[in-house]
Amino acid sequence: MDKDNLKGRDLITTQEWGIDELESVLDLALEMKREPRKFFSELQGKSLIMLFFNPSTRTRLSFEIGMTQLGGHSVHMDAEKAWIGKGSESIKDTASVMARYADGISIRIFPNITDWQYGKSNAVVREFAKWADVPVINMECDMFHPCQALADILTIKEKKGSFKGKKFVLSWVYHPRPLPVSVPNSALLIATRFGLDVTLLHPKGFELDEQIMRWAKNNCEANGCTLEVSQNMEEAYSDADIIYVKAWGSLKHYGKFEEEKKLRINFRNWICNEALMDLTNKDSIFMHCLPLRRNIEATDGVVDGQHSIIYDEAENRLHVQKAILLLTL
Ligand code: CP
Repeated sequence: MDKDNLKGRDLITTQEWGIDELESVLDLALEMKREPRKFFSELQGKSLIMLFFNPSTRTRLSFEIGMTQLGGHSVHMDAEKAWIGKGSESIKDTASVMARYADGISIRIFPNITDWQYGKSNAVVREFAKWADVPVINMECDMFHPCQALADILTIKEKKGSFKGKKFVLSWVYHPRPLPVSVPNSALLIATRFGLDVTLLHPKGFELDEQIMRWAKNNCEANGCTLEVSQNMEEAYSDADIIYVKAWGSLKHYGKFEEEKKLRINFRNWICNEALMDLTNKDSIFMHCLPLRRNIEATDGVVDGQHSIIYDEAENRLHVQKAILLLTL
C-alpha cells in the first residue's frame, strides 16, 4: 500500500480502516521498533495538539515521546484549562482554530461515571473530525480506543507469529468502578478483523453493544474465524492462547451508578488467577491495557507471572502511535 494513502485520515475506530491500512500501521511500527533512528526527523516541523478531558499515563507519554522521537512537537492541553472544557466555546470554533495551528489533533474524552450516556463522547470526537481539516486521532472515547487495539494486535503478532486458529479470550473482570467499554469493544473488533477465534467471557448483564457485536460477527464471517459468548470462566480459559482481561460497566445501567453497582458487586469473584491461567495453553499470554487494579482484576501471581506480557503491550503503544502519526500527519 502507498504510504501516502493515509495522509489526512482520521482514526476514530479501527473498524473504519481497511485491513491493508491496519497492516501498514503494524508493518511500519515493527520497522520503527527495529530501527528507530531511521525515522528521527520524519515529522520535523509538525505539531500535534493532544486534548485531554481525562487522566492518562501511557497515552499521554507515548504520544508525546513519539512526536519527539519523530522530530515533531506535541502540545498537551488539559481540557479543564481550555474554554471548551469550561463549556464556553463550541467544538466548531475550537477544532477550526486548532487545525490552523497544528498538523494533527488527538483527543481523549470519556464521561464521568455519573453522567454516562453511551456514545456521547464518541460524538464529540466525530464533531472535532467534522470541523478540523487535519487528522483527528481518538486517544479513547466512550466507544473506542483504536491505538490500544493496534498495540494489542501488534503484541499478539510478535508473541504468536500468526492469528489463524488461536483462541483469544476477552474476559470481563470485577472493578470497584464501572469503566467504559471502549477497550473491550476495540479488542473484540481488532481480534475478529485479524482472524482470531474469540471467546467473549462476561457475567449476565455485561453484554457489549449490539452494533459492536454485529460488526464482530461480520468480521468473523469475512475472516473465517469464530465468536463465542460464555459465562463460564473455566470453560473459556481452557486451551486459550491469549487471555485479555478488562473490567467494564454494564451498558444497561450506565449513568445510574448505584443501580449498576448492585449488579456488579455480585461478581467480585471474577478475578484472573493462577488456577485459571493453569487451564490455558503452556505458552499462552496474559494481556491487559493498564492501568490495572492488582488483586482485584488479576492476582499479583498472574500479573508478574510467566504468561504476562503487559509491559511489552504498553511499550507497543509507542511504536504503533508513531506509525499512525507518520502515516496520517
Ligand atoms: N491504556 C491506556 O490508555 O492507559 P492510560 O489511561 O494510562 O493512557
